[in-house]
Amino acid sequence: MTCHYRCGSQCAAPVANRSQNAYFGDVVRGVVSRRGVLAGLVGLGVAGAALGQAPAARAAAGDPTPLAAPFDPGHQVDFSAIAPVPAGSDSFDVPAGFAWAAVLSWGDPILPGAPEFDFDAQTPEAQAGQFGYNNDYVAVLPLAGDEHRALLVANHEYTNEELMFRGFTGSDEATDEQLLTAMAAHGVSVVELRRSSARAPWGYVRHSDHNRRVTPATPFRVTGAAAGSALLRTSADPEGRTVLGTLNNCAGGTTPWGTVLSGEENFHQYFAVPEDLEDPALARYGVTGSGRGWERVDERFDVAVEPNEPNRFGWIVEVDPYDPASTPRKHTALGRFKHEGATVSLAADGRAVAYMGDDERFDYVYKFVSKERFREGDRAHNLTLLEEGDLYVAAFDGDGTEDGRHDGTGRWIPLVTDGVSRVPGFSLERVLVHTRLAADTVGATKMDRPEDVERNPVNGRVYVACTNNTQRGTEGRAGVDEANPRPENKDGHVVEITESGDDAAATSFWWNLVLVCGDPADETTHFGDVDRSLVSPISCPDNVAFDSVGNLWISTDGNALGSNDGLYEVAVDGPRRGLVRQFLSVPAGAETCGPVIAPDGSVFVAVQHPGEDDEATPEAPASLFPYDGSGQPRPSVVQVYRA
Ligand code: FEO
Ligand code: CA
Ligand code: CA
Ligand code: CA
Repeated sequence: MTCHYRCGSQCAAPVANRSQNAYFGDVVRGVVSRRGVLAGLVGLGVAGAALGQAPAARAAAGDPTPLAAPFDPGHQVDFSAIAPVPAGSDSFDVPAGFAWAAVLSWGDPILPGAPEFDFDAQTPEAQAGQFGYNNDYVAVLPLAGDEHRALLVANHEYTNEELMFRGFTGSDEATDEQLLTAMAAHGVSVVELRRSSARAPWGYVRHSDHNRRVTPATPFRVTGAAAGSALLRTSADPEGRTVLGTLNNCAGGTTPWGTVLSGEENFHQYFAVPEDLEDPALARYGVTGSGRGWERVDERFDVAVEPNEPNRFGWIVEVDPYDPASTPRKHTALGRFKHEGATVSLAADGRAVAYMGDDERFDYVYKFVSKERFREGDRAHNLTLLEEGDLYVAAFDGDGTEDGRHDGTGRWIPLVTDGVSRVPGFSLERVLVHTRLAADTVGATKMDRPEDVERNPVNGRVYVACTNNTQRGTEGRAGVDEANPRPENKDGHVVEITESGDDAAATSFWWNLVLVCGDPADETTHFGDVDRSLVSPISCPDNVAFDSVGNLWISTDGNALGSNDGLYEVAVDGPRRGLVRQFLSVPAGAETCGPVIAPDGSVFVAVQHPGEDDEATPEAPASLFPYDGSGQPRPSVVQVYRA
């Protein structure tokens, strides 16, 4: 069910990247020493490499990891790890001493006139004024210098109609009302939060002038060199500069100037494509299916009617949550692919650098570097930073596994610099609109579904969550390389990048795998410098975040170890480097998204698709999360705080 609704069953479709793109990752190069960082690394658990110690079994519930104290360079959130919760358990689990509360749930009214959530009385109009479905990215931003007020921004990736409507039997039979309600449940929400004291949990403000819904009907302004391109023009928008809506918004990022970015990910699934249409550019993006029935209520989703409409999705969008009247933007300078998200850091000279993953098996990691520099206090200027700059794609060159480490050097290969295409045979517009095709030609490294890519504000290194790729190394598919070392990779791994000169704008880097995820009993796993017996099992890393002392936090999607998904703290420096400790576990059928580790040590997560199970229906739900008496599972943003 998750496959069908979230990503249009892209795993069941042919691999989109069928390019013969060479594997530079296998090239053996000299070892690059990075300030002794290498010295602390232990043997990787891969074929032919030295293996760590045999792990001790650590599966019993209620067996907290006793590691908080002995090595401790610092925790922002002081907790004892929880044990994994068996898959299918309908519970939300937090460490001893913590409590949780849903801050906002699907259907909560946030705009004037919106009714209370009523599962049996949904309408498109009601939904357009209510919190949307399947929250993913979460940002919590300060408001008015008041520690008791904040703005919450969440996006709504996709809908699961079989859990939203009784008796739903597929999009072919869906009513127009159902189709339009599901459409309105997509997009972005901005909602004011308040709390009564610094120790109290947050609640949301139903009647706030800050509240906003962005839906598939909201106009977006297209920016960058592809704005106005013939590839973006439609009958409704002959200028190619205004797009209605944003779709399949997955992860995101919060910029230093206080806006929120969101990635348009599996947009391909909304389009109905004629069966006999063969278009390599559409195929490279998986736009080959029969759609979700949306073309019946809005013909722009029929590729036979509007062949360019798919080109208007697959972008990074920017929303200014502080200005509810602002027009959100789609930034073509950041390229078009199945954007997981984008996270912005500042380079040494003040340019804005956006790190990005293209979340599909065998796709790539990208980076954008703005032309102009960030100016402290000049928000109007900073709001333009993502409209023009250079675009790169990553190559991870391994130095061989004889050293017992998965590591090597890397290159940011230019696709666009100084406003000029650097890809032979591709115009600037085509590099930006058909970015995947351009990247195929320059030797980028095919990765195992790169999702969040984010720079640690404390140690300056960049972390890439590669969720999984069970087709790696299978017949007719790309084989393993040093950066994607496991065949049929079901548990994923995390790449750590050190940019040359510690400058985010660098064009070369050093990398290593800080985590090779899975059951610690699996000798192919690797956890930084720590003994495998000490860590929480972790599988399918998806979103990453950092706390104020530089620990990496990872939320997971698709645990392949027989447990529910969760949120994990990972030390990345000092003797605890690689120590994974599970902080929370989400209910049956859910994935964990959008972690925010707030400065006060409270934690926000999005609980996405609770109760998503092939057998589940509204009459027989697989989860009742957030256990609010509605009798149905409701995707929700949750706050976890010290009890
Ligand atoms: Fe929507 Fe890449 O997860
Ligand atoms: Ca190596
Ligand atoms: Ca994701
Ligand atoms: Ca995911």
